[in-house]
Amino acid sequence: MISRTTRILLDLEDVPKHFVNVLPHLEEPLAPPLDPSTGEPIGPEALTAIFPVECVKQEVAQEPRIPIPDEVREAYMQFGRPTPLQRAVRLEAALKTPARIYYKREDLSPTGSHKLNTALVQTFYARNEGVKRYATETGAGQWGSAVALACSYFGLQAMIYMVRISYEQKAARAVLMRAYGAEIVPSPSDRTEFGRKLNKEHPGHPGSLGIAISEALEDAVNTPDTKYTLGSVLNHVLLHQTVIGQETMAQLAQVEETPDAVIGCIGGGSNFAGIAYPFLADKKFKDIELLGVEPIACPSMTRGEFRYDFGDTAGMTPKIKMYTLGKDFTPPKIHAGGLRYHGVAPSISALIASGRVRPIAYDQVSVLESALFFAKHEGIIPAPETAHAVKAAIDLARNAKETSEEKVIVFNLSGHGHFDMAAYQALMAGQLESDVPIDLPTPSVAA
Ligand SMILES: Cc1ncc(COP(=O)(O)O)c(C=O)c1O
Repeated sequence: MISRTTRILLDLEDVPKHFVNVLPHLEEPLAPPLDPSTGEPIGPEALTAIFPVECVKQEVAQEPRIPIPDEVREAYMQFGRPTPLQRAVRLEAALKTPARIYYKREDLSPTGSHKLNTALVQTFYARNEGVKRYATETGAGQWGSAVALACSYFGLQAMIYMVRISYEQKAARAVLMRAYGAEIVPSPSDRTEFGRKLNKEHPGHPGSLGIAISEALEDAVNTPDTKYTLGSVLNHVLLHQTVIGQETMAQLAQVEETPDAVIGCIGGGSNFAGIAYPFLADKKFKDIELLGVEPIACPSMTRGEFRYDFGDTAGMTPKIKMYTLGKDFTPPKIHAGGLRYHGVAPSISALIASGRVRPIAYDQVSVLESALFFAKHEGIIPAPETAHAVKAAIDLARNAKETSEEKVIVFNLSGHGHFDMAAYQALMAGQLESDVPIDLPTPSVAA
């Protein structure tokens, strides 16, 4: 039966007033970023050449809470926050599980995912600091769409380097970005020295997030009034997503539920952090399981090494300590373009190393099959990235059935898959290939 406990809503004024900072809650301070030429730790000042000063301050802030500017809260309200938390009643019935499954509706943003939550904050700060143009990369196009809309909202020009394979698989995404006024090119492009070099050496290169980041950075460094914006990995980006977890916590409290497991898919880690960090920062929830899900085709958390590496492929960024497959790793052309990144956020990496976050990897066929099952019963077609979290939730619910446990499972429905029909079409036509586990030199399995 559909009731108030099926679709749990908050009022407009319940949009959170602050972000939750995970840094003071980590067991140890994060290893500092290093200057690649000297090997010495770099201070935050070095980052202000490419990022707005306010974002750099947040990158190293130790305050447990950071206020959200009123203008950003207004933008959140305009674009659909607070988002509903939904109980998957029909999915539970289909699975015949005693578990109760809840999902957070980040797919309801006008650009289709959680990415707008940070794009709006970063663009607000950039505008206040006189920046006229933002350069960025995008994988599946969700981040690019969010930057394009945020730039149009706050009056900046957006320049977007979209990973070539995604540009081809998801052509309509580029139309959406252009509709918001953004300029967009497939990456590797002929706009940058690094792109031209790759195109010459490897014609038709499918691209990767690491390459597109290098191109956007090169653009930002060489173009007047331009800064760079990143949609994941860094502390300030993950911080901005914590509106998701705070709302989820308030919504679960409304129906007197405490989660046993909180799940998110992980590319660089922002939607996972967004839902998980507010729970992690609250001692009341110290026993809940935090589960991060990645593709076996790009297994940075489950098969990467925990070490210093570059954030991009050209080696332009400072080195950061994270689980990584190495900056030169070009992932197979899976449909979950947003999960094709060689590393994972330093804060999530530290939490994996300490055993607080459990990483898990799945193959794309089983992931999209779970997503279709979910769509059939709940009516929402998830983004292929999100589908990883859907599969983990379904697997936990099936286990709960076997052990007759009344578990409460919460996952972040980070985005919809309306631009990803080619993936589902391939699955339904039996043409989607299982990922072949990749060959890595020194697999080191995380805790
Ligand atoms: C819908 C969706 N979910 C998840 C991700 C993965 O990014 P992150 O790990 O930063 O949440 C992406 C990235 O493009 C995405 O589009």
